[in-house]
Amino acid sequence: MPSLTYKGRTFTLQDQQSILEGLENQGEVIPNSCRSGLCQSCLMHAVSGTPTSISQQGLKETLISQNYFLACKCIPTEDLDVSLPSDSAVSIQTTVLGKELLAKDVLCLRLLPQETFSCNAGQYINVVKDDLIRSYSVANLPDADGYLELHIKRLPEGRMSNWLHDSIAIHDPVTIRGPAGNCFYNAIHDRNFPIVLAGTGTGLAPLEGIVTDALDKGHDGEITLIHGAMNKSGIYHEEKLIKMADFHHQFTYIQSLMESADPANSDLNAEVRSVLENLDLSRVKVYLCGSPALVNKLKTRVFLQGVPSYNIFSDPFITATTADWDVFPRNS
Ligand SMILES: Cc1cc2nc3c(=O)[nH]c(=O)nc-3n(C[C@H](O)[C@H](O)[C@H](O)COP(=O)(O)OP(=O)(O)OC[C@H]3O[C@@H](n4cnc5c(N)ncnc54)[C@H](O)[C@@H]3O)c2cc1C
Ligand code: FES
Repeated sequence: MPSLTYKGRTFTLQDQQSILEGLENQGEVIPNSCRSGLCQSCLMHAVSGTPTSISQQGLKETLISQNYFLACKCIPTEDLDVSLPSDSAVSIQTTVLGKELLAKDVLCLRLLPQETFSCNAGQYINVVKDDLIRSYSVANLPDADGYLELHIKRLPEGRMSNWLHDSIAIHDPVTIRGPAGNCFYNAIHDRNFPIVLAGTGTGLAPLEGIVTDALDKGHDGEITLIHGAMNKSGIYHEEKLIKMADFHHQFTYIQSLMESADPANSDLNAEVRSVLENLDLSRVKVYLCGSPALVNKLKTRVFLQGVPSYNIFSDPFITATTADWDVFPRNS
């Protein structure tokens, strides 16, 4: 077995054990959240040795070239000496510019980067609080606005979400990393293809960012945004999105409520299916964000309906205990 060195100590990993699991089992605290290669909170640095290529998937080229890797995806194939990244190498400082409630348990947080920070609407950044690192999607056009807008859902006893809701104040410093992810509007020549976006709860954040970006860049193909929630209390930015739809003829905004009295308006899966039925499936781009159970289910259905996998973009909002999540996360 290859040997693993961390903080000058040598660790033995079990067969097929990831670095994250191996270090945790032997008493070390390594930041992590999704444990499946999606959130990048378990980022580590190989001081010597080369991490596996699978553990570098999704990382920026600059991080790959400096031997950074994801500990939850790395089952070493050679001796490695690893460390946690220093803040100065991968993080940037922001300050809190604004905080407002969008719904009972959804906070809009605006962060002002203290140095140059470029990011696409819809990508995600990681917020760092000591050993706690959590991902949040970008809901605005940061490069144009000069700040980042995040929509943070308060989870019962959620450590980061409750800290962001309750403890941080305007002008407070907040450390972030990123950006990462491929959920963003990407069109160079053709701005006429149809776009369908569907999500639950704060899954609206990246989707709203993508719609804003597409409209800002003059996209003139049909854009349909479907926001799902258990009931009306989980819907936010309704007025803003209705106004956008009134102003832009190519944009349609639909709400899908699980508890809706109108059965035709109660199933996000059915809603997505019927929207796609009227579109050219070979050209449509589909974006799915929010509840992992729902995103994964929709991904399969949309693919089976005929949308090529390279045109399906998704960010399941996996938490440390996603297994608990049903189709709709609690209180969404
Ligand atoms: C790519 C990506 C993008 C995301 N974008 C967004 C976004 O835009 N907006 C957003 O709101 N979220 C987003 N998320 C989710 C977000 O990153 C966090 O996972 C979420 O905010 C919860 O973090 P937390 O620290 O508050 O909760 P945690 O402390 O991680 O807890 C999560 C849940 O698990 C429960 N729990 C914790 N420990 C235990 C335990 N031992 N046993 C049982 N239950 C437990 C808690 O009660 C809580 O309900 C995204 C996730 C990903 C991967
Ligand atoms: S990418 Fe490793 S914990 Fe999320």
